[in-house]
Amino acid sequence: MEKKNSFTSRIGFILAAAGSAVGLGNLWRFPYLAAKYGGGMFLLIYLLIAVTFGFALMITEVAIGRKTGKSALGAFAALNEKWGFAGVLASLVPCIIFPYYSVIGGWVVKYLIAFCSGQGKAAAGDTYFTGFISQTAEPVIWLSVFLILTAVVVMLGVQKGVEKASRILMPVLVVLSVIIAVYSVTRDGAMDGVIYYLKPDFSKFSISLVFAALGQLFYSMSLAMGIMITYGSYMNKDSDLESSVRQIEIFDTGIAFISGLIIIPAVFAFSGGDESVLSSGPSLMFITLPKVFDSMPFGSVMGAVFFILVLFAALTSAISLMETIVSFIEEKTSLKRPVICLIVAIASFIMAVPSSLGFGLLESVQILGLSILDFFDFISNNVLMPVVAFLTCIFVSYVVKVDTVTSEVELSSSFKSKKLYTVVIKYIAPVFILIIFVSSVLRGLGIIDF
Ligand code: PHE
Repeated sequence: MEKKNSFTSRIGFILAAAGSAVGLGNLWRFPYLAAKYGGGMFLLIYLLIAVTFGFALMITEVAIGRKTGKSALGAFAALNEKWGFAGVLASLVPCIIFPYYSVIGGWVVKYLIAFCSGQGKAAAGDTYFTGFISQTAEPVIWLSVFLILTAVVVMLGVQKGVEKASRILMPVLVVLSVIIAVYSVTRDGAMDGVIYYLKPDFSKFSISLVFAALGQLFYSMSLAMGIMITYGSYMNKDSDLESSVRQIEIFDTGIAFISGLIIIPAVFAFSGGDESVLSSGPSLMFITLPKVFDSMPFGSVMGAVFFILVLFAALTSAISLMETIVSFIEEKTSLKRPVICLIVAIASFIMAVPSSLGFGLLESVQILGLSILDFFDFISNNVLMPVVAFLTCIFVSYVVKVDTVTSEVELSSSFKSKKLYTVVIKYIAPVFILIIFVSSVLRGLGIIDF
């Protein structure tokens, strides 16, 4: 396959990578995990692993991509023939995430329409969300809308439009989130939520917390699935790799942090801070946010604008997911791009429907005690991604050697965190991921309990 065009500028790379990273993972998944796993303790662990593991892994992926000029599938094999399987494994992850991501994307579309059509008040009702997701047809219709939107962009070619839109909409997202966070934090009773979110309670520490934080890190930064390798392959040799990665990480973590600051204090102010609400999981954003908007001056306008931005963030992530799957098939077959897009869209739709119905018609179907959507989320974030991340560490440390990455980084600038990088990627990350992974699997199987 001929190598596609590269980014015209460093900012092009940063925007595309940040567009992939910032999505529902930041706005929807991070706050509900932080709420569920004890607030401050989760935040602390997340930040710790973000600046160490997240940084090391993202540098690695971008550098491997830029060095080989290939997507994940080819990049591992190009550096060492026997390691092609790691690329295959990484490429599997988006195939699992994309369908269920579209289900949540569909929910966002539904809320956007609700706010635009003056139903903001209804959306703030206690049973609105569960009433909606337990239906059969409606959520499937919205997920189709989300899928079609994504497919159309991928079919037309991602570059120009998305890059331009990102330049405007991403900063707007930041400003609006800050405004809503300030509003949320200053409500009556919200202070308890702020404390819960910011103050680590060490008694809340557990292996499952660390594991959840690790899964969230990979997911939120679009790591361990080849996306950053692909984007790295588009990057210019003279663009500063280290500082680009830093900026993406700061942006991604910043947005997640602010979303937590919007949602967790609001849970305390509007729904009381009791355990059952805090641990309500995937539904948290959709139940809490409408209440915030309902109580706000110009709430329906704010709600509508906010959900447009969430939708945009979700779309740019979904595009990167679908684009990865499409380019993978493009490399392996001789099918034309539009045909591939159609096949991927239909296959993803078929896989997405059970996840959607898992909250209504198929509610009784539970796998390992999880709903269908949660199960897919678990398999990708807590099983496949740690495995791919572990393999990546072993690969660069002991197969192709760390020097492969560091010398690539040093092509464009001095590598300021080289020492930290080397220690993390060689020793800390693989050992840590292995321990957490094994103990979590043993716990899942009921062999150990802590
Ligand atoms: N990182 C995206 C988010 O936070 C989700 C995503 C995961 C995108 C994996 C691409 C690949 O929403």
